[in-house]
Amino acid sequence: MINRKDLLGLKELSAEEINYILKTAETMKYVLLQKNKKTPHLQGKAVITLFYENSTRTRLSFELAAKYMSASAANISASTSSVLKGETLIDTGKTIDMMGTDILIIRHPMSGAPHLLAKNVNASVINAGDGMNEHPTQALLDMLTIKEKKGKIEGLKVAIIGDIAHSRVAHSNIWGLTKLGAEVSIAGPSTLIPKDIEKTGAKVFNSVQEALLDADVVMGLRIQLERQKKGLFPTIREYARFFGIDDKRLLLAKKDAILLHPGPVNRGVELSSEVIDGGISLINEQVTNGVAVRMAILYLFSRRGAHYENID
Ligand code: CP
Repeated sequence: MINRKDLLGLKELSAEEINYILKTAETMKYVLLQKNKKTPHLQGKAVITLFYENSTRTRLSFELAAKYMSASAANISASTSSVLKGETLIDTGKTIDMMGTDILIIRHPMSGAPHLLAKNVNASVINAGDGMNEHPTQALLDMLTIKEKKGKIEGLKVAIIGDIAHSRVAHSNIWGLTKLGAEVSIAGPSTLIPKDIEKTGAKVFNSVQEALLDADVVMGLRIQLERQKKGLFPTIREYARFFGIDDKRLLLAKKDAILLHPGPVNRGVELSSEVIDGGISLINEQVTNGVAVRMAILYLFSRRGAHYENID
């Protein structure tokens, strides 16, 4: 059962809530794979995506999920909105709210922006990625993909490799996977590993090879060049040489290991092309599961009753 207004991160969700979302997503995946994907679950509801950063997967999958479930769905991006005329995030949020919005999905470069919005609007706020903080729906779709292939999450060894410091995907996955009983190993350039990350339950290894040893799941991360200060690693070529995942390094993982990456991928940098297109890569399945998870999220967070009921 989900009894909260907003989905801001996996840090604050219980294992029971995460499992409930994943179970609902399994049902939504069944619906998604039918010839006729249309359901009436969100009839009469309004879903808005408000994106201050670029996106292909997250924005489109939320919009399709809303439309498959019969919601009225619209998108507004910062670059074409009155944000460019100086409107604040709160004023923009309140404006969207007062049009009868039930669910407001936001991506923003500042960590905490969705939390601020959630305090100021009636609509349910869903975090679609805030700065370096969290990307909860990405981690949920990653967990759904792992559960589908491995039948469980508890007891699995998940190796997360790359730019942990700037990755909201890594942070949400570490919270979610450890809550569900996975053992999370991380490795990357020491400048890209946060000092206190082991407090979350993840274990830091000095080399990619050590982190990959006997892994059930290998997760590559995109280098977040847009969030990095200069000089955190020498060159892209050197990064690929020491931290890139290729066929040879994957041999260290278990024979039946699976490979995930949230996308977009820098081919030949964090993953080699052979690995991206190889037999253990589930990158395409992750995209499909992204729609199923977002259908589940919209369904679960749209059941609070009429939009205007709490307005004095
Ligand atoms: N994984 C992810 O968030 O992709 P987009 O930036 O394309 O939404």
